Parts: sequence; structure tokens; C-alpha cells
Amino acid sequence: PTPQNWAAADELLADLLVGHDPALEATLAAQHAAGLPAIEVAPVSGKLLNLLARLGGARRVLEIGTLGGYSTIWLARAVGEAGRVVTIEAEAQNAAVARANIDAAGVGERVDIRIGRGAEVLPTLVPGFDLIFIDADKESNTLYLDWAAKLGHPGALIVLDNIGRDGEILHADSTDSKVQGTLAGLRMLGEDPRFDATALQTVGLKGWDGVALALLA
Ligand code: DHB
Ligand code: MG
Repeated sequence: PTPQNWAAADELLADLLVGHDPALEATLAAQHAAGLPAIEVAPVSGKLLNLLARLGGARRVLEIGTLGGYSTIWLARAVGEAGRVVTIEAEAQNAAVARANIDAAGVGERVDIRIGRGAEVLPTLVPGFDLIFIDADKESNTLYLDWAAKLGHPGALIVLDNIGRDGEILHADSTDSKVQGTLAGLRMLGEDPRFDATALQTVGLKGWDGVALALLA
């Protein structure tokens, strides 16, 4: 298998299982037009987030790392009309793009965008989240996991993105701070008794990567 096959097969899976989605496609177009990086989750992964949130009956979702709001919309759709998504974004320009995308997708009333660094915003949030999606600067993964453990209720699901890009986690002595942050997060998920975790490697549109899933004690 080649990366080209992975991408083409991922597109086929998205065609078959996710389908044409004008609001999400407009979100990606607006994100691209605004010059934001194309590092949002793949369509099949966005739908996985949506299914996981619905599986757990999530009504309060926290996202760390909004970017243009693509995964936020998937999560906001899952929580239902009475549900709420709090999403934290460090860059005000990204937040403005996300606000417009989320509103245009018709789920604006469900989404509260907090602009600021996670380290500043997280201590201001009210605990009791059902699902927490961590998809921000990898250097802060352990900080975000610690806050996720404090802000999620027992049994809450934590999803940690980008745990294995190109197998880079094999390089324990890497000088890349993203690799070190990713490894530190995975070690914490394995060692800290507040988490019961696993991880899945993925291949697809975004190449070779992966996601960790943890239930909170
Ligand atoms: C990067 C970040 C992400 O969350 C992602 O899914 C892909 C890439 C990055 O910082 O390069
Ligand atoms: Mg990511």
C-alpha cells in the first residue's frame, strides 16, 4: 500500500459513509480562503467523533483547538439542540473564521468559542464534560490531559488527536517538541490512574497518524 492508495481509499470511504455535506465543505473552503492550515480531522474522523459523542449521549463537550470549526461542527451536531460545545482557540483570527463557519452550519447556538491559551481558559470552565477532544499544540498535551481529568466526569471520554504521525513516536530521543509532547501524553494516559486508555493508528487522507481514546476513572 502507498500513501496515494490510503488517500484514495479514504476518499472512497468518505463518499460512501459520510457523503456530500455542504456546510462542512463550505467550512473547509472558508478555512482555506482565510489561509488557515489544512490540519483539520479527516471527514471519516470527524464522523467518528460525532458517533462517539452520540454513543455516549454526550450533552456537554469540550474541544481544545478549534481551528476553523470543522470538528466543532461535527461535535455540535452530535450534542443535540439542548447540548453545548465549549471550544478553545488561541488564535483570534481562527476563532473568527470558526464562528462564521459554525453559525453558517446552523449550530451556532450550541457552540461557545473561548479565545485564549488553554492554560488560561481551562481553569475558568465549569466541570462536568461528557467528552473532551484534545487537538491543539502537542507540547501542552499533558497539561490538557490533566485539565481533561479535572473537567470530565467519571466515565467521560477523552479523545487525543495526532498520536502517531509518520511513526514519529518511535523516536524517543527526538528533538521535535511535538514528538516529545505526544509521547508525554501517551505515557500519562498509560501511567496516570485517572485514565483507562488505548490508541489506534490510522492511515488515510492525513497520512499515517492515530488517535488515543481514554475513559476517565
Ligand atoms: C498538526 C496538528 C494537528 O492537530 C493535526 O491534526 C495535524 C497536524 C500540526 O500542528 O502540524
Ligand atoms: Mg489534529
